[in-house]
Amino acid sequence: MHSPVAVIGGAGRLGSLVTRRLLDEGVKVRVVSRNPQRGRLPLGVELHRADVRYADTLTDALRGCSAIVFTVEPGTADSGPDSPETTVHDGVRNALAAAMEQGGRPHFVLISQIFVTRREHPMNAYGRLLDWRLRGEDAVRESGLPYTVMRPSWLTDDRIAGDRVRLEQDDRGDGWVSRSAVAEASVAALRGPAAVGRTFELYNEPGRPPADWDQMFGRLRPDRVLERWGA
Ligand SMILES: NC(=O)c1ccc[n+]([C@@H]2O[C@H](COP(=O)([O-])OP(=O)(O)OC[C@H]3O[C@@H](n4cnc5c(N)ncnc54)[C@H](OP(=O)(O)O)[C@@H]3O)[C@@H](O)[C@H]2O)c1
Repeated sequence: MHSPVAVIGGAGRLGSLVTRRLLDEGVKVRVVSRNPQRGRLPLGVELHRADVRYADTLTDALRGCSAIVFTVEPGTADSGPDSPETTVHDGVRNALAAAMEQGGRPHFVLISQIFVTRREHPMNAYGRLLDWRLRGEDAVRESGLPYTVMRPSWLTDDRIAGDRVRLEQDDRGDGWVSRSAVAEASVAALRGPAAVGRTFELYNEPGRPPADWDQMFGRLRPDRVLERWGA
């Protein structure tokens, strides 16, 4: 990949792991942050200041990217600038629009979460977080871009639930997954077409770490939107 991969939220806890993994693989990385600070990031990354809530800030930040990983943390206010609506719905749509502005077709990896299809879950009390997340996912699935939607379970900094990674697609489960496993999955998804057009949940469980991500992605059902297009 000669063009950079933009990691929106690339200075955050998951985003910085994605950033480091990409750099380790020799991929150029552009960290997109509201307040980029060189000292907190590895040498060699490009830094761009942008806020997904404000579409015009994204044009330069996403220009010419081969891929985008969106790891933005939603606010929990019911409305206003720190609400899920502005960050993980409007913000996702703004990023998609900026990505396509110059006719680009970057692979868009969206970090969402489990529970998005369970409206009755208590997390939906916080600014209708789950509803807006799902609508943000839908915007990605309907964008026409190559995409992957990942729904991590509860994120942990250690692999407390085990090293094995289980992928599911019915959004009925609950559990934990480490940020490092999600970062690994995000980078693996960008290596080829196996995860394109897939939406899935991630869990850790006891066992060995993944040896072949493409094989795991290959077992997943393609999303219906792709079936509609005859892919
Ligand atoms: N915590 C969990 O159990 C859990 C479970 C499933 C999914 N998730 C999701 O996984 C993702 C990563 O989680 P994390 O714990 O690694 O999050 P994190 O450390 O809080 O990082 C998220 C990043 O979002 C960026 N951000 C927030 N608002 C933004 C905006 N308006 N424009 C641009 N960037 C913005 C921030 O970057 P700057 O401050 O640099 O701008 C921040 O570094 C999030 O979407 C989270 O909701 C979390």
